[in-house]
Amino acid sequence: MESLADFIAGMPKAELHLHIEGTLEPELMIALGRRNGISLPYPDAATARKAYNFSDLQSFLDIYYRATAVLITQEDFYDLTIAYLKKAASQNVRHAEIFFDPQSHTARGIPFETVISGIERALLEANSSLNISTKLIMCILRHLSEKEGFEIFDKAFAWKHWIAGIGLDSSERGNPAEKFMNLFELAHQEGFLTVAHAGEEGSADSVRQTLDILHVTRIDHGVHCMEDDALVAELAEKQIPLTVCPLSNVRLKVFESMKQHNLKAMLQKGLCVTVNSDDPAYFGGYVNENYIEAAKALQLDEKDIIQLAKNSFTASSLSSIHKQLYLTEIDRYIHQT
Ligand code: ADE
Ligand code: ZN
Repeated sequence: MESLADFIAGMPKAELHLHIEGTLEPELMIALGRRNGISLPYPDAATARKAYNFSDLQSFLDIYYRATAVLITQEDFYDLTIAYLKKAASQNVRHAEIFFDPQSHTARGIPFETVISGIERALLEANSSLNISTKLIMCILRHLSEKEGFEIFDKAFAWKHWIAGIGLDSSERGNPAEKFMNLFELAHQEGFLTVAHAGEEGSADSVRQTLDILHVTRIDHGVHCMEDDALVAELAEKQIPLTVCPLSNVRLKVFESMKQHNLKAMLQKGLCVTVNSDDPAYFGGYVNENYIEAAKALQLDEKDIIQLAKNSFTASSLSSIHKQLYLTEIDRYIHQT
């Protein structure tokens, strides 16, 4: 019998909560800084890694947005994205729904077209050479105004054929869902998939408001939903997916340690939870490490791992035929191990 870590590594999975800017490994950040003549607060990758000690979400976001300064050309966005996709494919990620934060680039004078065309080139290449399917989700930064959100939404319109969904990320505290009510209404009218971060640093109430006001299909994180029994019952009954990121939650002090994480309790409540890496270059692991660390600390067994992997496809925005194909891959994998 192989180890649970090997079982996890070989399992076909989808990743549904991944910020492409959060995959900027320190080595690539330093290399791109040199290539583009951008000075960084770190002399080398090891020093950068040591500086990645976060006290909360905001302390991370400050460092994360500063690092995007090295991303300038279409080639940079391609290099960033293809590096993630190679890593994901090596971990048996078969489908990835990838967030990008265009406002963090356009604010620095980088054209929207540069960002999306670099990312798209990598997605197309991965589709043919890495055997991984992808979708792109454009996130709106919630610390900025809804008006600024509409400005980027308008820009994205010309690229609608490449953008499957609209998301909402950045600082949850002080930026409630209702601030983006009109923007998400338009996103629905235009037929986009909609998702939003909620219940990461915010409470169960934030999850409730995000569902009631923004009518999103999935909640990103959502771990604080567990404070409200009625909400948990509703999320379980409607099987609204929650894209949980265990290593992120520990590194950003949402939980004191992995042992305190409520992933297993969420599964036991029948919630449609998935495991994801959020910003793997900053939080110490990609999707497999998230499964493995959570499994070790919370005593997840093979049945739990299978459930989480199946959830990752059922919670995706793939067509039902594609979901079925991937679920069959999981069944085949289980029977051969
Ligand atoms: N942007 C990148 N990572 C994020 C996170 N964990 N929460 C909110 N916004 C983010
Ligand atoms: Zn996130």
